[in-house]
Amino acid sequence: MAQKKPLVIVTRKLPEQVETRMRELFDARLNLDDTPMTAAQLVDAMTTADVLVPTITDHIDAGLIAKAGPNLKLIANFGAGVDNIDVQAATNRGILVTNTPGVLTEDTADMTMALILAVPRRLVEGVAALEEDRFRGWSPNWMLGNRLHGKRLGIVGMGRIGQAVARRARAFGLQIHYHNRKQVGPDIEQELEATYWDSLDQMLARMDIVSVNCPHTPATYHLLSARRLKLMKPSAYIVNTARGEVIDENVLALMLEKGELSGAGLDVFENEPAVNPKLLKARNVVLLPHMSSATIEGRVDMGEKVIVNIRSLVDGHKPPDRVIPAML
Ligand code: 8YV
Repeated sequence: MAQKKPLVIVTRKLPEQVETRMRELFDARLNLDDTPMTAAQLVDAMTTADVLVPTITDHIDAGLIAKAGPNLKLIANFGAGVDNIDVQAATNRGILVTNTPGVLTEDTADMTMALILAVPRRLVEGVAALEEDRFRGWSPNWMLGNRLHGKRLGIVGMGRIGQAVARRARAFGLQIHYHNRKQVGPDIEQELEATYWDSLDQMLARMDIVSVNCPHTPATYHLLSARRLKLMKPSAYIVNTARGEVIDENVLALMLEKGELSGAGLDVFENEPAVNPKLLKARNVVLLPHMSSATIEGRVDMGEKVIVNIRSLVDGHKPPDRVIPAML
């Protein structure tokens, strides 16, 4: 007799081809009009599904996990970051958690580099000057920014994305520095000509540009605290394509307002979709609406990863992208 297909509940609309494949393989309950689920709908999904496929916009906290039905075996996150899920609570209940690592590395690194270029070179201000009819012709002091070549880039979090940023930044003549929980292997350090800083404080004080590329975990919440942000040079720039929660956003906004930092490029915010009004008003920032990994190719690859994780479990294997509390 054919095996019963697992009930897979997907909380948001995914790319067409991913949904088609999910329909073929699973008893897939899709969200075709992409209306985010209400709390009650999420509870309903948790109690009935064999597999839940949430995204960053769903908060799968301990309270929700406590309500999981007996069938729920896997939370297959559509996303690399898993800070929307209480992984410890899920693990305690015997529910596996998987994510989609690796497939959004290059896209996220591209956008990080775009912000590293855009902020010191005042790209968005230049566009605005034209749109607002303020361009009166070239002049020696018009739109002066800061040179990238030869400057120090400090990468906070040297995982896949941090390394992909470093590769790009080297091509622009930036010197690569990094802080990470663990020093990376000598082969990678050599390839990237990267300098390791055990002390984040010391690195921050010496960098011209800081790029945040670490995941948001309890240990990295406000890693860039008021105290640490104040260690940075007033001439420095900061770029964040990881998670808003890693930086004390309120303090950052105040420092930018007071000129205690030169500028910021932010794709992520502490209370998305809300953005600190001070940041919206600031002249020296480039703000993006959480779109660093937003490529068609990336979303399809993420969907395929989700499918592989679900299929592995259904076939009695360990899903390849399991996340365990010790990894966080
Ligand atoms: C995802 C992200 O697209 O994967 C991540 O961690 O931040 C994203 O850009 C998003 O999380 C979807 O759930």
